Parts: sequence; C-alpha cells; structure tokens
Amino acid sequence: MTQHLADALTSDSGLPTTTGTRPGWWREAVIYQVYPRSFADSNGDGMGDLEGIRSRLPYLKELGVDAVWLSPFYASPQADAGYDVADYRAIDPMFGTLHDADAVIREAHELGLRIIVDLVPNHCSDQHEWFKQALREGPGTPLRERFHFRPGQGDDGELPPNDWESIFGGPAWTRVADGEWYLHLFAPEQPDFNWEHPAVQDEFRSILRFWLDLGADGFRIDVAHGLVKAPGLPDLGRDEQLKLLGNQVLPFFDQDGVHEIYRSWRLVLDEYAGDRIGVAEAWTPSADRTALYLRPDELHQAFNFHYLSTGWDAEALRATIDESLDSMRPVGAPTTWVLSNHDVVRHRTRFGSLERARAAALLMLALPGSAYVYQGEELGLPEVVDLPDEVRQDPSFFKANGQDGLRDGCRVPIPWSGDQAPYGFGEGGSWLPQPAEWAGLSVEVQTGDPASTLELYRAALRIRRERGDLGAGDAVEWLEAPEGVLAFRRGDFVCTVNTTREPVRMPAPGTVLLASGEVTDPGVLGADTAVWWQG
Ligand code: GLC
Ligand code: CA
Repeated sequence: MTQHLADALTSDSGLPTTTGTRPGWWREAVIYQVYPRSFADSNGDGMGDLEGIRSRLPYLKELGVDAVWLSPFYASPQADAGYDVADYRAIDPMFGTLHDADAVIREAHELGLRIIVDLVPNHCSDQHEWFKQALREGPGTPLRERFHFRPGQGDDGELPPNDWESIFGGPAWTRVADGEWYLHLFAPEQPDFNWEHPAVQDEFRSILRFWLDLGADGFRIDVAHGLVKAPGLPDLGRDEQLKLLGNQVLPFFDQDGVHEIYRSWRLVLDEYAGDRIGVAEAWTPSADRTALYLRPDELHQAFNFHYLSTGWDAEALRATIDESLDSMRPVGAPTTWVLSNHDVVRHRTRFGSLERARAAALLMLALPGSAYVYQGEELGLPEVVDLPDEVRQDPSFFKANGQDGLRDGCRVPIPWSGDQAPYGFGEGGSWLPQPAEWAGLSVEVQTGDPASTLELYRAALRIRRERGDLGAGDAVEWLEAPEGVLAFRRGDFVCTVNTTREPVRMPAPGTVLLASGEVTDPGVLGADTAVWWQG
C-alpha cells in the first residue's frame, strides 16, 4: 500500500466539514459530473482515464465547483459504459489502476475538492465472479440465490417467469443454457442482485467501506429505487411498461423495502469523519416519494429529475421549483437541481438554443440547494445528433422520462484546446467523433472571453461562493413579473429570467451582478435571458 493510501485510511481529508455556519458541505454544493471515458485521455488511446482526470483537477478547481462525481471506472466489460461492474474494488485497465484512483482522490482533496464515486448496487456485470459461479453451479445452488433465477413459464419453461420489461427494451429476463431464467432490469449483461440475500447486503457495506477508506466523500447511487422487488415478482399486467417508469410505484421500482437498505448504509457513512454522503438516482412517481430517500437516517440528496424534465416554460419551472422545495422541507434535505447528465439530451439542445442554456444555468445556480453540472455544459456544448450508427455504443435508449434517444450524443469527449480533433482531449483520437464546430467551443478558446459560456459559469460560481448564501435556505420569495418571466428574491439578491423570445420591459430590481445575455437597458430583460441583481 502506498503511503498516501495509508494516510487516507488513517486520517480525515482535512477538508472543512461545514460551509459557513450551516452544517453539511453538501447542502449547497455545486457538484460536477465527470464522465471518465470522455473527459481527458492521458495515454492517447482515445479513451478518457483517471490520469487524465487527475491532470485536469486544477481546471475544476478554477471553475469553482465544490465536488466531483465520477461515473463508473470499475473493472467492467463496458456493456453499458461501465454501469456493468465485474469487480467493485478494481479499476478497469482502460481507466488506469487503483493507484490512479487514489491519486485523483488525494489531489482533489489537496485542492479542496471532494470526490463522489458512482456505486452500482442494483445489478452487476454478467462477468462478475458471483454470477459466473452461479451459472456454473446450476439451478438450486446457493450462488443462484444472490440473483433472481427462476424457472420459466409454459410447458417447457420457454416463457419468461413474469411480464416485466427491461428498461432497455425487451423482456427483463434471459434464459441460460440449463433452462433457468435470470432477471435484468437493464441489459442482459447486467443481472440484478437479490437484495433479500444477506451476502449481497454484507458485500455492499464492505464495498462502501473500501471506497470510504480510500477517501471517497460519498456515493452517487445508481438505480437507487430498484434494489428491492415486490415479493413473488408479480406480473405488471400491462405492456408499454416504460411509460409507467417514474409515474407509479412498480413491483420493481420504488418499493418501500429499499429504505431499510439506505438506513443501514447511513450507519456506515456516519462511521466516517468528514461528512460522507449518499446521493440517490431515484426515479419515483413524485417529489414526495423522492423525499422518503432523504429522511434524516437515510441518504443526503437525490437528483431532481422532475426539474430536469421540465421544459423552458416560466409557469412550469416555477411550479416544479415550488414543488421541489416544498417536498424536501419536511425531511430537512436540500433540494437539488440538474439540467444535464450522461443519460439525457444536453439541455442546450433540449431547450433549443445556447441563450436558453445559459439562462437556465443562471436560474439553476441561483436556487437554494445543491446543483449538478455535467461536463461540457459549462462550455455550452450541444448534443451531437448526427453520430453515425457504427460508432454508437449505448446498448439501448430510454423512451420515457426525458431520456429519449440514444445516449451517445451527450457522451462525446469534450474539447480542451487546439483546432484539430480531438481538441486536446488526448494525443490520439476520441472514442466518439467530435464535431468540427467544437474547435470554437474549447476551454482554450473560451478562457478569458467574457462573453463565453465558460466565463459565465466561472463568474456565477465565483459569486455563489463569495456570497455564500445562494445555495442556503429552502425557499425563494417570488416577485410579481410579466407573463413568461420568473423573478425571485433571496435577501438582497434578485434573479429574473425571461423565458420568452421577446424582450420584456420591467423595472430593474437593482444593479446587475451577472447576466446570461447582453443588458443594454436595465429596464429591459432580453429574450431568453437571466440576470442576477444586487437589490
Ligand atoms: C443509470 C445510469 C445509466 C445506466 C443505468 C443502468 O440510469 O445513469 O447510465 O445505464 O443506470 O445502470
Ligand atoms: Ca486513455
């Protein structure tokens, strides 16, 4: 074991555990999502890696975020870009070594950045030792009980055990050579664990400790709503099940039993110094049901997918913001805000313009709670919509809940510098081709240009940090505003957002702190523009 690894095991990271006087750094943190394969490539193989991430940590520090969430870098056959984990304690050689992971965590801490790692507990890879052994040992053997193996229906067991559909399309069951079927809510290469089994529960508490010992500040919990299945795995009784995801409690999603698991994880997190957190990726039918994951003895945050799914519409945004804040208040958890991630069409493209994307960023960063920034959104990157079929790698596409379309278009490696692809991403190529226009969107081009989206994010995060109060609290005070305009006050700070395509005349509530578009007359709010005011 290296010395710093040993240090990490014995000492706290030394980071402050509170922001200002309010307990919990995570309550108002801005958390930057790194998608490792597409962030920075250190060895020229066209694939981003941990050493690439480490070398770019100063960029993230300068951007002004508080923490970095790393999508999976574990040993994996990459059937679902690493969300199919073969070994939860090993790094995929494509991303580097455990030593590299340790270096990322250590150097991030030295810079005052926290690191959140992705944990995938609903399923593993079909190349995970347990699953391979379960297949070898055959029906009725103990290893099979750690997954959901069942005989099929029909005369020869040729029909799946129930009618559940995979989120990636097709039946959620695959038949193996000996005739049994196993459950996979996602790809066939991602068998679901049986969370009733004590060995599964023990194993994940041990995995949590492994990463906490290494210094991880928390976990983003993949498919946090899926671990527990209804007893007896009952049929749903209808097709087009994807349409129901996130709209109602399903026998495989948002079962009440999941909360017991997070209570036991919370005990583990709390054994460690330094305010370690759990962030739920939980698709639930309502913000109120999401709040259940954030009761004081469970997790700390959950992604606000209701916000992500809200269109560029003042009334709808206001309703979602109110509902989000209202539903978190009873459990005392911070609300979170997110516009983009590795599963959805980038918000610049979703909302239809860079102007709107910039305005949306200022709105998000003015709201109380924690905000998630997906790599490249600070550059104003659009979705890459014209990837040739042969380069795509996404095993599937989501058809509901805003996740509509193949997911490779938001995963294209980001441009850092230069006028030739891969634009400083690495010295080789890039695993997905980057559009020629991205030369003009690189970090290098945007740095120092006050009109650039990168400098807008930097300025917003600087103001947020300096003021120290924008992320605080659990309420906004809405101000009267013309139709299509959002206006709210937070103490002596006001945010106005015009979601319409026309400039709107309204009295200036103060002096301009920052604006997503030009302000030529403070009495006129430009089309698709957000302004921060000191007032
Ligand atoms: C989550 C991830 C997604 C992955 C799926 C299965 O939704 O964000 O990328 O495909 O879980 O693990
Ligand atoms: Ca690489």
